[in-house]
Amino acid sequence: MNILVELRLRFHQTLQGLVDDPTDLLDLVVPAQDPRFGDYQANVAMPLAKRLGRPPREVADQIVRNLQVADLCGPPEVAGPGFINLRLRDDWLAEQLQQVSTDQRLGIPAVDDPKTFVLDYSSPNVAKPMHVGHIRSTVIGDSLCRILRFLGHRVISDNHLGDWGTQFGMILYGYKHFRDQQQFAQAPVQELSRLYKLVSQLVEYHQIRRSLPELQEQLAQRIEILDQQQALGPSADAAEQKRAAKRLRGLKNQVVEMRDKVAAAEKKLAAVEESTELNRLAEQHPNIGSAVLEETARLHAGDPENIRLWHAFLPVCREEIQKIYDRLDVRFDYEYGESFYQDRLAEVVDRFRQGGLARISDGAVCVFLDGFQAPMIIQKSDGAYLYATTDLATIDFRMQTFHPDAILYVVDHRQADHFQKLFAAARLVGYDRVDLQHISFGTVLGDDGKPYKTRAGDTVGLEGLLDEAVRRAHAVVAANDDAKPTSPELDDDQRRHIADVVGHAAIKYADLCQNRTSDYKFDYDKMVALEGNTATYMQYSYARTQSIFSKGQIDAEQLRAVDSPLCLQHPTERALGLQVLRLSEAIAEAVLDYRPNILTGYLFDTAKRFSEFYQQCQVLKAESDSLRTSRLRLCDLAGRAIRLGLELLGIQVVEKM
Ligand code: ARG
Repeated sequence: MNILVELRLRFHQTLQGLVDDPTDLLDLVVPAQDPRFGDYQANVAMPLAKRLGRPPREVADQIVRNLQVADLCGPPEVAGPGFINLRLRDDWLAEQLQQVSTDQRLGIPAVDDPKTFVLDYSSPNVAKPMHVGHIRSTVIGDSLCRILRFLGHRVISDNHLGDWGTQFGMILYGYKHFRDQQQFAQAPVQELSRLYKLVSQLVEYHQIRRSLPELQEQLAQRIEILDQQQALGPSADAAEQKRAAKRLRGLKNQVVEMRDKVAAAEKKLAAVEESTELNRLAEQHPNIGSAVLEETARLHAGDPENIRLWHAFLPVCREEIQKIYDRLDVRFDYEYGESFYQDRLAEVVDRFRQGGLARISDGAVCVFLDGFQAPMIIQKSDGAYLYATTDLATIDFRMQTFHPDAILYVVDHRQADHFQKLFAAARLVGYDRVDLQHISFGTVLGDDGKPYKTRAGDTVGLEGLLDEAVRRAHAVVAANDDAKPTSPELDDDQRRHIADVVGHAAIKYADLCQNRTSDYKFDYDKMVALEGNTATYMQYSYARTQSIFSKGQIDAEQLRAVDSPLCLQHPTERALGLQVLRLSEAIAEAVLDYRPNILTGYLFDTAKRFSEFYQQCQVLKAESDSLRTSRLRLCDLAGRAIRLGLELLGIQVVEKM
């Protein structure tokens, strides 16, 4: 049962006697901020009183008189200006816990109206190595998938691989000009990623060489403006002085920013120029940028050689990313990828044109959308189709194939404009009933507050990142085991296995526990810490619940069938019991706006409640047999709530740590 939903239902019944439609008031029935005042509180009386033109306390008293909650709550209390405080009855809680105990789903019901969701997540561009930015889409998408499925929805996951874009032009060019045949035969994955890096480095080198003088010029101008501003002595007018100071700060920031940009560009040039080999290649391939685009265009035009190579490269690229998915325990129902839609793009453009929904502007086919300054281009003047065209074809296909109620795109926030336009264009052609949503997320930052990079300024590969997390997890697991009061309990194999689970979990959890729309700082030490809101702490808490059973040689399965309510006399017992019952609320809230961090927050609270209980209550040495049994059952429930919550985040547990 979802207690909050149940209470809101009761309030709905009562409030119907007072207003026509009380629905919007029900959001004001919430978990209590301060447990001293109860478990839940309803703040409905104040806004209602305003509507009715009556004193709020009087309205609150009336609600309380009519409210039918005696089966689950003690008598409601009215406090302050008209808050209604509710405290669940201990016997009711104890009975609920008994029921939940025998339920695989811990009493969490499936939804009454299952929907069909298509989830588009991870979706990397496959010809380049996956990097830290791909973690977010992958783990957030995977977790939403698990949560929605658990709630009984039909979920179709589709990895919309970028398998048809410019990156292939890069490796086609690289393969034709720079390949090491022997390397390619022996280790094709490594060779292709070397080629990708090499070609993109050379392309960037030439771009920078062309743009650097202008950039330097701009910097010089900014510095001059700044100097002029600084040379103006202070104004006599205080307000003007303030404005001048503000201007100065703005200018200084601009200079710093430009300087960073110039420095970064110069560093990239130097990296090529300092290497004889790279320098030679750069000189031999001055037009590499346009040549790469031509390779892509030839691929799209069906050039047999490029198509043949594409077919040879694709499995290699996919194998590379599959390794990451295996490590992260992420699976997809479909991986159609952009290439799948290539012969459907002309149709899309035709439909927009025939419907009078697109116009030619500067030779390109453009869809002009209300509320957007720039149009959405669906075909360039040279005939090429774009990312947006493919996304429109993808919507067609998904609608016809899966008939979804919603399509969720888990993609970083920089693509917000693309998706807003895409959704508007889709509505234009009649997809106005499907719920199209961009589940946007922020950037992974380094210590310096800038996008996470290696010291050398490269993006950080995902594989190395996972390895490092596992390495650090191993150190934490070993230290914890070595410090055990009697003696270490884990052998080398066990330590390695645990480190593997804990390390991968740490990376996932560190991401999921962030509010997805914010940026966050990547921090290995924090993410594998045994304390705080980390996967390690949750896994440790779970392992603690399990160690109680192994220490006492108790079969948890048997306990679940015990035919009596739990005992919740100690405040920490009651708090933990209630917390277990609230998993349902956390899951429901997490899907409201697709935020896994609501669930991590719940888990953190649960682990804390468990720790408080375990510190204050004897379990194996409880005063009586019945108390011991009840407490063991509570430990079992707490462990299961943590395990289920983690499972919905795509995180595994270990029995021992
Ligand atoms: N491949 C794209 C990128 O790496 C993300 C694709 C997201 N999904 C979509 N249907 N557009 O930026």
